[in-house]
Parts: sequence; C-alpha cells; structure tokens
Amino acid sequence: MHAVPSPFDEMPFLWGSAIAAYQCEGAWNEGGKGLSEWDYFNAIDWMNVNGVDARVASDFYHRFEEDLDLIAEGGQNALRLSLSWSRILPGGTGRANEEGLSFYDRVIDGCLERNIEPNVVLLHYDLPYPIALKGGWGNTSIADAFGDYARICFERFGDRVRLWSTLDEPQFYSYNANIAGVYPPCRKADVHSYLQWQYNEMLASAKAVAIYHEMNLPGAIGVVHNDSLIEVATGTNNPAEVYTAADFFNNRMILCPALEGRLPPELDEMLEKLGTFLYRVPDEAEAFAAGKGDYLNLNVYARRYVTDWNNSPTSAKVDSVGGGATMEGQAVAPLYETLVDPSVPHNQWGREILPRIMHDSLMDIKERYGNPIVLTENGHGSLETPDDSGYVEDDDRIEIIGAFLKSLSEARNEGSNVRGYYIWSAMDLYSWVNGYKKRYGLVRVDFDHDLIRIPKKSWAWYRDFISRDAARR
Ligand code: BG6
Repeated sequence: MHAVPSPFDEMPFLWGSAIAAYQCEGAWNEGGKGLSEWDYFNAIDWMNVNGVDARVASDFYHRFEEDLDLIAEGGQNALRLSLSWSRILPGGTGRANEEGLSFYDRVIDGCLERNIEPNVVLLHYDLPYPIALKGGWGNTSIADAFGDYARICFERFGDRVRLWSTLDEPQFYSYNANIAGVYPPCRKADVHSYLQWQYNEMLASAKAVAIYHEMNLPGAIGVVHNDSLIEVATGTNNPAEVYTAADFFNNRMILCPALEGRLPPELDEMLEKLGTFLYRVPDEAEAFAAGKGDYLNLNVYARRYVTDWNNSPTSAKVDSVGGGATMEGQAVAPLYETLVDPSVPHNQWGREILPRIMHDSLMDIKERYGNPIVLTENGHGSLETPDDSGYVEDDDRIEIIGAFLKSLSEARNEGSNVRGYYIWSAMDLYSWVNGYKKRYGLVRVDFDHDLIRIPKKSWAWYRDFISRDAARR
C-alpha cells in the first residue's frame, strides 16, 4: 500500500494549461533525440493525414522560457506536459541521453521557479520508433521497457515532480490507432488490437505505478483518461445493456486497472460477445493489483451518446475535411452505436458542445470510484483569423470554456473531489489529425512568422477568472 501522504494536501487548487512533447517541442533530431513513431509516420506522404509534421512545431524546445513566462504571467499555477521517451532513451531502451534529461531538468526547474506545479505524463502517443518496430503496444513485453523508462524518469525528476501520469488517454490512443485508423499503425475496426493495446497499456501503466510506489517518492501517480461520461438516448430498447457495453468499450479497461487495481470483472463476458480474445500474462492479477493509481487525470471534451446496436459493422466515422478530419460517431458490433443529438450544438469538427458534462462527468467518477481528480484537458478547437497585429479575439473560446467552468464550479460546490483544471492548450500546437489549422491555444503561435507568441483574448480572460476564483474561495 502506498503510505506517502497525498501531495494534494499541500497544494492550492491547480489552475493551469496543458501541452504534449511531440505537439509542441519540435527539435525532432536535436540534443541526441531518437526517432519516434510519429516522426517516422508523418514523413510518409500517403499516411500523413494533414500533410504537415511536428519537426519544428511550436519550438517549445528552444522557447520554453518564454512559454513558461506567459503561463506564469497568465496567473496559472500548473502545467501538464509530457516527456519524450525518444529524447530520454533514443533507442527506446538502453542508455539514457543526458542532454534529453537535462532539457527536462531545465523545464521542470523553470516551472518551479515560477510557482508552476508540473504534472508530468510519461508518454503522450509518441512511442520510440525502435519500440514500434518490435510491435509497439501490440507486444506485451512493452510493459517492461516502459517500466525501465519510467524508473529513469522517477529517479531523475521524482524529487521535484509531485504529480505524475503514466499514459495520456490509453483508450483514445488505441481507438485512433486500431478502430478509426488515423494514428499509426492505422488499423481500422480491429477490435482485437484495440483491446490488446489497452491491456498492454494498462499493464505497462501498472508496472510504472508499482515502481513509483516502491520508490516512496513524495507525490501521486495515475493515468490520463478521456471522456468518461456515457449517456443512453431516450427510446433505447435495452438501456442497461447498452450502458454496460459502452462503458466497457470506452472506460472500464482503463478505469478498473487504474483505480481498482484489477481488470473489469465483465471482461470475459464482453470478449465473448465481441467474438475476440486477449493474450494475457500469467501474473496479471498481481501486476494490476500492484499498479493501482492514486488519482485520476481526466480530459473532458464530450460525452458518449449511445443507443442499441442497429446491425452496422464495427466502424468509426472519419470524414476528411481540408487538411484534416472529423471523427465523431461509431458503431461497435454487436454492442451499441452512437447517435447525433440534434438538440445539442456541434463544433466545426462535429463534436458536441455541451458544458454541463463537466459537472456530470465529475459526479459520475465521484460516485463510482471516489478518487481525487485533476481535469488535465478541456478546451475549444477552432479556425482562427488574427487581426493585423496578430491578436486573436477568441470570444467563442471564452464563452464555451466559461460555460464548462461554471459547470465545474457546480461540481466543486457539490463536493466533487476535483483538485485542478487545465486548459488544452497553453499555446497553439500541432493537432494529430488537423495539423496547425485547428487551434486550441491561449497564446497564438504564428507558424508562418518566426513562431512569434501573442496572447489571445482568452489568455487574459483566464488570468482574470483565476484571480476572481482565488478571491472568492
Ligand atoms: C486530446 C489529446 O485527446 O485531444 C491531445 O490528449 C489532442 O493530444 C487534443 O491534441 C485535441 O485533439 P484534436 O484532434 O482536436 O487536436
């Protein structure tokens, strides 16, 4: 049992923003960094969905001091960032790269000097290419490689980083790689691989959590999960069955290992219904039990609005839009399908804009699992046109995030165990599917002119919101 006191007891509410290594760092072949799977994949013209890559991205690698200044001047006291496994271990395993480690020393120290609490994710999609060559997440032995990598990170940064996550969105990561086919290795409707990846991801995550706890470091560790709220449409014939099925398919393979230290009890029944199976390790019960996390990092963008399966084959709806894609909607044979709710507004990429789900997601996790939660992503993507000086008046972002924050405040007042909230993203960066067109940042990055940073209207609005919240509570 992890006996170290919770770091949350010593922390104020965390108001911050989030970034991820591949999406903002650039410097893809500098400082001894090895090749990541995304570096490789984006260099293949016919695989690259948006025609751009992240070799330079927002150039956080060279400009992080300026970015951290803007985060601090924006009144934020937290930053969620990820480490690049390929920057730390260029070969995926073996010798660590001192230049990569010292880059992250500087970033972490830079955060602490500015009173920004770093929340560090070990891996946000950018798997080292040498590990992908060995089958990546399809190969159960990745858990050992991930554990070795995690130990190096804990040994180096564990004295200063108090909030850790193992993986970003293992569900969505696997979904995009194995069902929607938009992340490498671009398989479509492959339910076996979708679940096998999740099993291996959570085994790897459990391994890292167990190592962290053995080291008795003064912090907390968990996983980042996404979009956990499931709502069954009125008129559904078998609402309870549909709910259980959608919950299994989207949440339970992640949340049970992460928060209960076990696989979902309904696993075998669901595998049989799906007509598939998993390769499992003999000591899985011990491995998952030792890997129970301390808290949950949750990304909240949308709910899953589901109904009865209507005989469609397993599929994800992916539509190409100029230099990118929309990907809302799915069918999972023979379990359930998603529906478009015409009463809810949708964004340019077909995603629901429904702020009340912030409250509802938090209360749902509180009732079902009870763990402390940090909201590690919430945000609004849009196509933006700056004025002549480069300033963006992103009133739509302010309005939508403002409504999500109101919903968050309701959950806090009702006793949700939420400890922080981060906007995706601190600055404009690379979108996996939509390149540089879809913007989320509080700070504009001018990708055409020397990557100049200009805070948007939402940056100042968020700063003022944070200071009002501090005064109120
Ligand atoms: C989250 C990911 O799922 O969504 C981020 O953790 C991602 O990495 C963000 O960028 C927004 O996704 P998109 O596809 O709209 O850019």
